[in-house]
Amino acid sequence: MCGIVAYIGAKDAYPILLKGLHRLEYRGYDSAGIALIDNAEIHVHKKAGKVKNLERFVNGSESGSTIGIGHTRWATHGLPNDLNAHPHLSANGSLVMIHNGIIENYGSLKQDLINRGYSFESDTDTEVFITFIEDIQKEGNHPLEDAFRIALTKVIGAYAVVIMSTKEPRKLVAARKGSPLVLGLGEGEFFLASDATPIVEYTNEVIYLKDEEILIINDDHYEIKNLDDVAQSPYIETLDIELETLEKGGYKHFMLKEIFEQPNSIRDCMRGRLNVDTGELVLGGIREYANALANAERIVIVACGTSWHAGLVAEYLFEDLCRIPVEVEYASEFRYRNPVINEGDIVIAISQSGETADTLAAIELAKNKGAIVLGVVNTVGSSIARNSYEGAYLHAGPEIGVASTKAFTAQLTVLTMIALRLAAKKGTITDTKYHELLVELDSIPDKVALALKLNDKIETISDLFKEAQNFLYLGRGYNFPVALEGALKLKEISYVHAEGYPAAEMKHGPIALIDEKMPVVVIATRDSSYDKVVSNIQEVKARKGVIIAIVTEGDELIPTMADFTIEIPATHDYLMPLLSVIPLQLMSYHMAIMRGCNVDQPRNLAKSVTVE
Ligand code: M6R
Repeated sequence: MCGIVAYIGAKDAYPILLKGLHRLEYRGYDSAGIALIDNAEIHVHKKAGKVKNLERFVNGSESGSTIGIGHTRWATHGLPNDLNAHPHLSANGSLVMIHNGIIENYGSLKQDLINRGYSFESDTDTEVFITFIEDIQKEGNHPLEDAFRIALTKVIGAYAVVIMSTKEPRKLVAARKGSPLVLGLGEGEFFLASDATPIVEYTNEVIYLKDEEILIINDDHYEIKNLDDVAQSPYIETLDIELETLEKGGYKHFMLKEIFEQPNSIRDCMRGRLNVDTGELVLGGIREYANALANAERIVIVACGTSWHAGLVAEYLFEDLCRIPVEVEYASEFRYRNPVINEGDIVIAISQSGETADTLAAIELAKNKGAIVLGVVNTVGSSIARNSYEGAYLHAGPEIGVASTKAFTAQLTVLTMIALRLAAKKGTITDTKYHELLVELDSIPDKVALALKLNDKIETISDLFKEAQNFLYLGRGYNFPVALEGALKLKEISYVHAEGYPAAEMKHGPIALIDEKMPVVVIATRDSSYDKVVSNIQEVKARKGVIIAIVTEGDELIPTMADFTIEIPATHDYLMPLLSVIPLQLMSYHMAIMRGCNVDQPRNLAKSVTVE
């Protein structure tokens, strides 16, 4: 949460920062701000709300500064108002900071500073942090980077911070711990950002800062040190992001674009990995630990939100195909209990952003307990990817809409490939079934494209239900996690209450909710649970519930019972979530639009949840 961007070079900094903030807005949109240094003076502009508010506020008044910092906020400490917006100045105004993260001991630091005569304008931990650095600088007559380093040894929590100083107006100092920070190396210019998206159009040479590293950029050269002031040798990486993937490409919203990208993103995810002709499934990122995975007595999956739903599907796949017991854990719960992890257990972390704080903490805990950690991550070079022993990238391309769509189907695709690879290695699948599933997986992008043709029909159905206040989503087997995912999608972007349930559990409570006003979305595709789901539909109809059924094309029975049916292509049970989720994504999108919601930036949310 929170996006940070900084620039130093010869160009006008303001437009670069502004564009960067637009790219990072998915990380938080409670407020936005920038600070620029001109003639050794700091100009700060900040406004509650979106980056466009800031743009309107600045109204072209800034040009000519060649060094600056910018921030887009997801509020943690204090209301999302102008005062709490970043950047924050230190008490005497000589230092200015942008910060992504949380300083946990800010309360005691603040009290100590107040006792010594300092006062604060905002409620933020960031203002305390920068004032603390000013105080250290004054007390010990320290240069900026020394005061910064001392402060970093005393603060507790997570941070990615960048600081400018009026006393050294051609210098940026930055550091990270627990929150991401990328340095872009241009020709005589440097870019800093929470991810590579604001950097990619200027340079593709980047350095991902490591935890507790300090970066000092002094005009045209940089150095990286650790907290003991020892120089570090950075690893320069080359970015592989197409600029067009960061734009809406003719769609009204990123979410819609990303839903429609799925035939391609699933193809990209399988490209070079799956070969139907030879029967090969190559996962180049899992080599050294392939045997450990095959011999594992247990797999634990840790993830949050939509990624957790992908983990639930993987549980069914791994148990069914590979006969390995699997547990799927919310990372936020796992990290705070004392989970039983045995040496050699495999922990798979699933994450789109690769920066989710709870998932990151869960894998650290797992590693400390001797587990082998594999990452299934979309964002290349992200913290979870780098902190996993090995793993498989999704290759779904950047996902900007806060609601995760194409990442979910890419996660399912990667996890299916891992399960098939593993089953073949362990001999828990017959050759015939293995080949059948490879062929079927290979056909999924075309089937997703067919499911997307239902868009108009789904829009019409959504219109009929746009005023409904509650929804129930039911599914069984592989479609149960899809029911959870459909309900989450509706909640997060339409602000409609929705609950996902295993269809058979309905009679243990939720059935009491059903009346003629309750729309019930039932995923009732032709699979091993079909007959049971038909009975569940009858139970709902007997209570006058309104059924919207997702069925396999050609189904003749369910349309006689359901109020509305949406037919999707047939596939194997294992792969059905890749298709059955598509109408649910589209339905949540249309409902949100019809209800006047901001689908790409739903209230209170952020794309990358880097706070616990
Ligand atoms: O980046 P991650 O996959 O780790 O994010 C996990 C969740 O925050 C995320 O899936 C969230 O639930 C989405 N907004 C769902 O659409």
